[in-house]
Amino acid sequence: MKVLVYGSVNIDMVFSVDHIILPGETIKSKKMTRSAGGKGANQAVALAKAGSSVWFAGKAGNDASWIVSIMDKAGVNTEYLCHTEHANGQTVIQLDRNRQNAIITLAGANGEIEESEIDSVLTHFEEGDCLVLQNEIPHLAYLLEKGEEKGMYIVLNPSPMTDDIATLPLEKVNLLVVNEIEGAALAQMNPDSDFENILSALEARYPDTEIVMTVGARGAYYRFQGDMYFSTGTKVKAVDTTGAGDTFLGYFLTYRNEKRDIDNCLSDSCFAAGIAVSRPGAMQSIPSRSEVDG
Ligand code: RIB
Repeated sequence: MKVLVYGSVNIDMVFSVDHIILPGETIKSKKMTRSAGGKGANQAVALAKAGSSVWFAGKAGNDASWIVSIMDKAGVNTEYLCHTEHANGQTVIQLDRNRQNAIITLAGANGEIEESEIDSVLTHFEEGDCLVLQNEIPHLAYLLEKGEEKGMYIVLNPSPMTDDIATLPLEKVNLLVVNEIEGAALAQMNPDSDFENILSALEARYPDTEIVMTVGARGAYYRFQGDMYFSTGTKVKAVDTTGAGDTFLGYFLTYRNEKRDIDNCLSDSCFAAGIAVSRPGAMQSIPSRSEVDG
């Protein structure tokens, strides 16, 4: 089975700050690091490191060849990735003293993806292959429609959450991966709601969709057609939480495709995400399968 991640590749500019900046405030950063990221690219690397056969498609800018090299080395197939002479997608990430982050994204080349490119990439995939999507590229409705037409198993991580996500044909999604904030927003509930209530509301809305909800250091839930599983997170000294969700998704999908028990998929994916949290950066923090399986 092949996995196609259609998504974003970003240059992450990570500013270490005392606290996340407040409106009207000017603050000093102690350090700035330029590193490889983008939810799509991170998830592709996590899938490859976990052992999936993964292709990454999207659009890279004229300043992103170093990121594509990192992806190639990690085992991601980038032959269907398009390139443009314009600047790559970028982010400004504030990382505070408590290792919490705040992220601003600028689509750049990611925003130039065209439907004709999607059509051409999808000719290389078939029924039963996986299509993994996030919310940092255009044409999500088109991708959902075309992925379903081909009979692909569609995974959506609707991050960053925006109002238009709820207008997508989400019934086409086979596996929805959200955090508690995204889950509550999709369920149209208060973000402080009880996690199990959020999952019940999501299941009622999307009865044919497997739902995974990560809840930060507390762990992760899986819910599908009345079955519910939970794993506690792995306790680690947090260095940088950026990319932890991407690591979780890549490992979870790989383990699921290996037909492991859901309990096991959740606990080992939480462990992988914990390793990522204990390291700086997004893509660079993703552990290898041998580190995770021990
Ligand atoms: O999920 C983490 C990623 O989100 C970062 O690498 C950044 O690029 C943003 O897209």
